[in-house]
Amino acid sequence: MANASAAPAAPFWTEESLGEVVSARAKILGPGVWAAAQPDPRPVISFAGGLPDVPSLPDAELLRATRAVLERERREALQYGGVFGPAPLRAAIAERSSRIEGLPLGEERVIITSGAAHGIGVACEALLDPGDVALVESPTFPGSLRTIRSFGADIEAVPMDEDGLRVDLLEAALRRLADEGRRAKLLYCIPTHQNPTGVTLPLARRERLLELARDHRLPLMEDDAYGEIWFGKPPPPSLFALSGGELAIKVATFSKVIATGLRLGWNLAPPALVNRMAAVRYDMGSSPYLGRTVAEVIRDGGLDRHVEGLRAVYARKLDRLCDALDRHCGEYASYRRPEGGFFVWLGLRPGLSALKAQRAANEKAVIVGAGPHFFAGGEATQHLRLAFSYTPVEEIEEGVHRLGEALAEVAARSANGQPA
Ligand SMILES: Cc1ncc(COP(=O)(O)O)c(C=O)c1O
Repeated sequence: MANASAAPAAPFWTEESLGEVVSARAKILGPGVWAAAQPDPRPVISFAGGLPDVPSLPDAELLRATRAVLERERREALQYGGVFGPAPLRAAIAERSSRIEGLPLGEERVIITSGAAHGIGVACEALLDPGDVALVESPTFPGSLRTIRSFGADIEAVPMDEDGLRVDLLEAALRRLADEGRRAKLLYCIPTHQNPTGVTLPLARRERLLELARDHRLPLMEDDAYGEIWFGKPPPPSLFALSGGELAIKVATFSKVIATGLRLGWNLAPPALVNRMAAVRYDMGSSPYLGRTVAEVIRDGGLDRHVEGLRAVYARKLDRLCDALDRHCGEYASYRRPEGGFFVWLGLRPGLSALKAQRAANEKAVIVGAGPHFFAGGEATQHLRLAFSYTPVEEIEEGVHRLGEALAEVAARSANGQPA
């Protein structure tokens, strides 16, 4: 009798056969999985990722809150919680956001998400169709570019300068679109402690941006992942607050102020839009268990205390980084000290390529982000992004020292006309 299993069957799911069946969205995204970089097997000094300081992760606080939740509300924590998110967390966020935004906000304005990346996803899903125009500041967070692009939207990049989004160029883009009979469906921006530039949009530009948004009926998607991490003085009010909670969806997250591993965030928006974002979800809601645990941390003041402590931790790391940059990289690069967030955007002097500098630093086991990665069109740019949040404070000096040596090598090679 023939053995049916003897001949190995040709694989059914090949890239080619998948190409015939995957959705238009999956085709736009392609097979590449967008994820955190693989850990480097070498002992590296990393300025690569926007990750929180490891020793500051609040495990004891989370453990206490978890225990309290399981003892008190075990059933609700361990069952489905619905697509708006667990009621205690929505209420705790509404109360805390009312204080931060200076607006009375009820929980009907809050939807709990599985992090800001998901929050951006549900907002895009509720708003974007293929062929719609989505405006983005440039440079920006590449994860969001990927999400927006996946909905088939045409991305139009609006340049930034050292004060953030060029609202004059935004106005020109909105006028041109109107002349062409098109309307932008949204503007995605990170006005506070921006990723990657670290810039905070000043109040006057925020107000002008809101005037333009009103005139052109342009919904704003304000990504506030780093808004609470400020040093010295607090940033200007959010676009959400300045618009009375009407024109902007504020995307927020516990990733940077508690832990990225929670996968928990929230969007603030007008109730009708919150409803639409809840309606497009397929995931049965974000974790009620973790949501209730975080609500417990917020309610007892633990989150406010923790954020206060983080500001001091990151301010110290930024001091250390700036001091080291001035000593080791001043000849090759300049930067503007950010008022908050996790990033320094280092402008290399003319003639130095960011990609070559990144490679040279990598050879010295120092990992940095290269500017072109953050532009919709991958433009040539002479910037490096240094995330100072995750690097152990005692490694910052050595990392920047090696970066300075790498920049010196690239500069010497370019001066000799050699390929780097
Ligand atoms: C600007 C910005 N938005 C969103 C995210 C995603 O954050 P989350 O972990 O909340 O999904 C990041 C993460 O680095 C970010 O930098």
